[in-house]
Amino acid sequence: MILVTGGAGFIGGNFVLDFLRDPTKEGVINLDKLTYAGNLATLESVRDDPRHIFFQGDIGDQGLVTRLLKEYQPSAIVNFAAESHVDRSIDGPTEFITTNIVGTFNLLECARKYWSDLDEFSKKAFRFHHVSTDEVYGSLSLTDPAFTETNTYEPNSPYSASKAASDHLVRAWFHTYGFPVVTTNCSNNYGPYHFPEKLIPLVILNALNHKPLPIYGDGQQIRDWLYVGDHCSAIREVLAHGKLGETYNIGGWNEKTNIDVVKTICAILDELQPRSDGKSYVEQITYVKDRPGHDRRYAIDASKVERELGWRPAETFDTGIRKTVQWYLDNPVWVEGVVSGSYRDWLQKQYH
Ligand code: NAD
Ligand code: DAU
Repeated sequence: MILVTGGAGFIGGNFVLDFLRDPTKEGVINLDKLTYAGNLATLESVRDDPRHIFFQGDIGDQGLVTRLLKEYQPSAIVNFAAESHVDRSIDGPTEFITTNIVGTFNLLECARKYWSDLDEFSKKAFRFHHVSTDEVYGSLSLTDPAFTETNTYEPNSPYSASKAASDHLVRAWFHTYGFPVVTTNCSNNYGPYHFPEKLIPLVILNALNHKPLPIYGDGQQIRDWLYVGDHCSAIREVLAHGKLGETYNIGGWNEKTNIDVVKTICAILDELQPRSDGKSYVEQITYVKDRPGHDRRYAIDASKVERELGWRPAETFDTGIRKTVQWYLDNPVWVEGVVSGSYRDWLQKQYH
């Protein structure tokens, strides 16, 4: 049994589905607050699987977390729960501080108490896996080498500052209490079940709905893109074989400018679902006001996880993005369910 937090979100949801595809796995307790980003429709295929036990709740709820740990005795916790969207953190940082910092602190404390009462064998086997981001390292120039695990932390947005703070807490719990943690810092994910406030799903759905494809600033910002299934396999690997107290950078070796990402999506859609007027989706690209404090470039050096644990991504950007576009075309019911209330309000506010 493992406890997954934030398992109704994009990456957590993909992780739960992947994990349960393995019939040898005992099960997952899934604790998710179901914020605007949490979506039980993502977990529809495991609704009747007795190995999936879902609880709606907050990682900041000490009573609930303590009760779940006591009752289900998990051998690991994988912490995905977070507020994850940079633009929302600029608009209103409070929830980012509450969940990403105070929530992680609460989870660590409950888990530490639970772990310290375990018998020696279970204590040795226990892991707390903290899922974090490359954004904690700040922004790179075009000529800087990619981030390694020894880069200094220089977070620039309320989101990345809150994730950096949570990483520091996790590190301190290892050094001070010997609490068995591993941390992964990953680059931009994309793939199925991605909430369409983020660039890739937003562009796919806006394109199909004849809406503008908004590019912040000059579109020359660079991100490293990793297919979500590859992120899940990396987490499984680190959880099973990572060294306690270590951090591992996870990335796709796929640096792309935002404008290139958007043009690639347009080209795939031109092929798979051409516009009725025969024009390219590229016509819908619109340059809009830049994100405040927009980080220019992220790049991940993922050689440590390859060298020490033998993990490499299976997908290239070309294969992953094609699968992703196809998934959005094939899953109109999930899409329709997501494009509801709070998401529509956000779009109106952000792109008025
Ligand atoms: P997401 O926003 O899609 O999902 C977050 C999930 O956490 C949601 O289901 C939400 O309901 C839940 N949640 C929020 N606050 C909670 C709380 N207080 N208690 C319990 N559940 C809560 O995020 P995501 O993109 O799936 O990211 C998951 C994790 O991975 C985050 O920690 C994020 O920082 C990290 N990460 C994301 C990316 C990316 O590209 N999306 C890349 C690297 C790291
Ligand atoms: O690097 C990892 C991070 O990647 C994760 O930690 C975050 O949780 C995740 O949201 C993501 O952050 P980004 O800010 O990089 O992702 P987003 O999809 O919001 O934006 C990707 C790039 O595209 C970024 O440079 C901003 C730009 N962008 C985004 C949107 C939503 C646009 O140009 N237009 C848009 O409408």
